[in-house]
Amino acid sequence: MRIDVFTLFPAWFNWFADQRHVRNALEAGLELDCIDLRAGTPLSGGQVDDTPYGGGAGMVLRVDVVAASLGGHYGEDPIARARTSRVIALSPTGRQLDDELVDELAAEPALTLLCGRYEGFDERVHERLASDVVSVGPYVLSGGELAAMTICDAVVRKLPGALGDERSAAEESFSSALEGDPEYPHYTRPAEWRGHGVPEILLSGDHARIDAWRREQSRARGRARAERDR
Ligand code: ADE
Repeated sequence: MRIDVFTLFPAWFNWFADQRHVRNALEAGLELDCIDLRAGTPLSGGQVDDTPYGGGAGMVLRVDVVAASLGGHYGEDPIARARTSRVIALSPTGRQLDDELVDELAAEPALTLLCGRYEGFDERVHERLASDVVSVGPYVLSGGELAAMTICDAVVRKLPGALGDERSAAEESFSSALEGDPEYPHYTRPAEWRGHGVPEILLSGDHARIDAWRREQSRARGRARAERDR
């Protein structure tokens, strides 16, 4: 898979790319590239944004700047590209990221992530240059970079070879193995800590009963979450 991130802060991703599971994925064939939106701007003085039509606070990232950066990088018309490839604009107004969308994105050969800043993108970026607009949650971040990292992280850990143990991804929260429920609780040594023990069943060595207990814990968490969300 190839992931290209268009951002005003490409250096932020150096830290991310240096994390063990990302390095594993890179060694297994992932290509991760960060493109500086400011470096590709056709405007003078490195300008990338402008004041909003109609007035109001903040600055808006210009559609011509994003288009020039995409066109320069891919060597094709950016509107045409968004019709044939996943080009994701990060915005709190978008479709909320969940495990289903992560699975969908992890199956793509290539992802392009567009990080907004300030008041976000000119709406024509969403409408013409992106195939998807995605939010990582109903709150506002200072820009799309952490949202893009969230998507990269969630996608990359699903790629073969990223995690040391493939079972980690198979039976985790929201996976189909757990029928979309949150993961069951985990415990490790010490078996007794300040008078707080661990569930006896986990020490029993009876793997069939342990599996059944874990599945039930997971379901109970799913029910509690549904109750909270009502
Ligand atoms: N940019 C600012 N806030 C965001 C969010 N919640 N999701 C995606 N991109 C964002």
